[in-house]
This record gives sequence, structure tokens and C-alpha cells, in this order.
Amino acid sequence: QQIPVICIDGPTASGKGTIAAAVAEALGYHLLDSGALYRITGLAASRAGLELDEANEETIAEMALDLPVRFGADQRVWLGDEDISLAIRTEQAGMNASRVSALPAVRAALVDLQLSFQQLPGLVADGRDMGTVIFPHAPLKVYLWASAQCRAERRYKQLISKGISANISTLLADLEARDARDMQRATAPLKPAEDSLQLDSSEMTIEEVVVQVLTWWQERQ
Ligand code: C5P
Repeated sequence: QQIPVICIDGPTASGKGTIAAAVAEALGYHLLDSGALYRITGLAASRAGLELDEANEETIAEMALDLPVRFGADQRVWLGDEDISLAIRTEQAGMNASRVSALPAVRAALVDLQLSFQQLPGLVADGRDMGTVIFPHAPLKVYLWASAQCRAERRYKQLISKGISANISTLLADLEARDARDMQRATAPLKPAEDSLQLDSSEMTIEEVVVQVLTWWQERQ
């Protein structure tokens, strides 16, 4: 039996995580936050004192292969016994994730773990290459984006609400740097899958985007 997968790809802070979680909840599907895997790998590697570049590619890929990671309720994430849910959400952690994710051996090391999330009754997968690389046969691929200014403002509000201090112009610059790195890398660059449906969420509420994705999904049943 084909286990259904809905892919939601797009740039940083496009709202993918929130939308994917809401769609998964509405359908009773599993959720894969693939960005968290790169964030965790980046965190583990930087804690091990490694420079996050080609020189350490194999070492970081080995770490990625057996990360003692566990996902709990409410999008909590554990590394061994440590709750790292907040530690992986900082801007620095995002930038580190973007660095390790540009290393092909690291991407390869995380493939099986990502595939293992495809379980009944279905999966909503969010990331950069869900539709292009990991689940190329997914029946619904959404490419979600929004203007950079709009994404920076959203990220700002998100961080402030978590009690993390932030500055909009720094966020905008970081986000543009991360977009550029994610789009220009040689392996699995961020780009819309050919068969994806694109959605510009700049002027949409979260609810409107969720309804649109669920409508597209119903049309495919
Ligand atoms: O989505 P999130 O901001 O958590 O992702 C962090 C970083 O991980 C991204 O900037 C990107 O470089 C990388 N990533 C990736 N492929 C994915 C998901 C995330 O390269 N499928």
C-alpha cells in the first residue's frame, strides 16, 4: 500500500513548520520536520568543536548517522537525555544547519532516517528537498514562500514570543544569506519541484494557507 506523503518545501521562515504541523494534525498524519535533523546535526557537530565545512564532512556525516535523537509531543526534541527544543531554534543553530546541510555526505547520512517517517496513515514532510529528493513520488507537493521582508517580520515575532531577543534587519540579512546558500548549493538545492503547487503566503493568514493545502489534498483523493 502506498503511504501518502504531503511535501511542504520552501525558504526559511515561509511558515512551512507551522503549516505542516497544522495539516498533519488536521489529517491525523505523522510529521517530519527535516530542518530539525540538520539543526540537530549542526548543534552536535559544533558542540564537538568541529568547523562545519568540507574538512570535517565525513566526521559530521558519521555523527548524523547515529544521532541519539527522539521527537516527542509538541515538537519537543531530545538529544540523548537533553531537551534541545530551544537550543536548535536559535538563528545561530539555523545558520549552522545551513552549513552542515550543504555537505553531500551529511545529506546522504540523513536519508534513511527521513524515509522512516513515512508511516500509516500518512506523512506531512517539511523542508527544502522533500518533493525534489526525499519523496519524489509524493502525490502533493507544495512550494510555500513569502517575501523576504515578510518572512523576517514573522521570524522576529516568533523569536520574541519565545523570549529570544532579535533584531529585524539582522534577521533579514541572515535570512537572505541562508536563502542564497540553500538555493546555490550543488546537492539538493532549494527549488520548487516541477510538479509542485506554489503558494505565496505573504498576504495570507496561517488558517488560509492550511485550508488551501487541505483543499488541494482533498482534490487528489
Ligand atoms: O527549515 P529550517 O529552518 O529548520 O532548516 C534549517 C536549515 O536546514 C535550512 O536553512 C537548510 O539549509 C537545511 N535544510 C535542508 N534540507 C531540508 C531541511 C532543511 O537543507 N530538507
